Amino acid sequence: MGYKDKIDLLKLPKHIAIIMDGNGRWAKDKGKLRIFGHHNGVLSVRDVVEGAAELGVGYLTLYTFSSENWNRPKLEVMAIMELMVSTIHKEIDRLMKNNVCLKAIGDLDMLPGKCHDELMSAINKTAANTGLVLTLALSYSSRREILQAVKQIAGKVQNGELKIDDIDEEIFENNLYTTGMPNPELLIRTSGEYRISNYLLWQIAYAELYFTPKLWPDFRKEDLYAAILDYQKRERRFGMTSEQVN
Ligand code: FPP
Repeated sequence: MGYKDKIDLLKLPKHIAIIMDGNGRWAKDKGKLRIFGHHNGVLSVRDVVEGAAELGVGYLTLYTFSSENWNRPKLEVMAIMELMVSTIHKEIDRLMKNNVCLKAIGDLDMLPGKCHDELMSAINKTAANTGLVLTLALSYSSRREILQAVKQIAGKVQNGELKIDDIDEEIFENNLYTTGMPNPELLIRTSGEYRISNYLLWQIAYAELYFTPKLWPDFRKEDLYAAILDYQKRERRFGMTSEQVN
């Protein structure tokens, strides 16, 4: 019996967020260039998206490129952007077939024109799909997301649309990039690093954290299933006692 058969489909995390890490090290271990790791990372993305869609997970959000990643060597940044363009182009039919709705969060205006256009075209094409919502975090920084929410809210207070006393968690969430999505219940990070790296800081307040030493290009749907099973064994107390939640 594989991991998949052991999963309780009634207790799936509604939203899974993943920090895909370790592409560079995976390639280096094989004596290859870092971009070789990114190319193989795409195969993991495809497998994990398919695995999540098959199970019926509602939302999957992948940390694809952080705002800080712009500081990488120019050649690597260009190669990742080109990889993104070609991947989105190649995967669009599969996304349609799997009823996946593609979205993106982050400072998308920073993306090169071709990458931005390819992304927008795929987002528009898949907009009516009703299955898995796959969100790519691109040029993403959680602190910037929070700051822009603060600025938007401050603007509404300034022009009289909103009173300070009315600002609550719901209003705050409505001003984040992720508005309308449930908060992640499971956050996975690969490659044996134990960091959040400026990812969905507000949204993961109550997420279960799962760290695996596997490097991203080695992470496949079976590993996703293992993470979900681990999540299902945990008791989520949200600050209450064990007796209360049971
Ligand atoms: C982290 O590994 C990976 C990235 C910053 C890029 C991830 C991008 C992809 C897998 C391409 C995905 C494309 C689509 C369309 C979703 P790292 O380079 O930080 O690895 P290291 O920590 O070993 O150096």
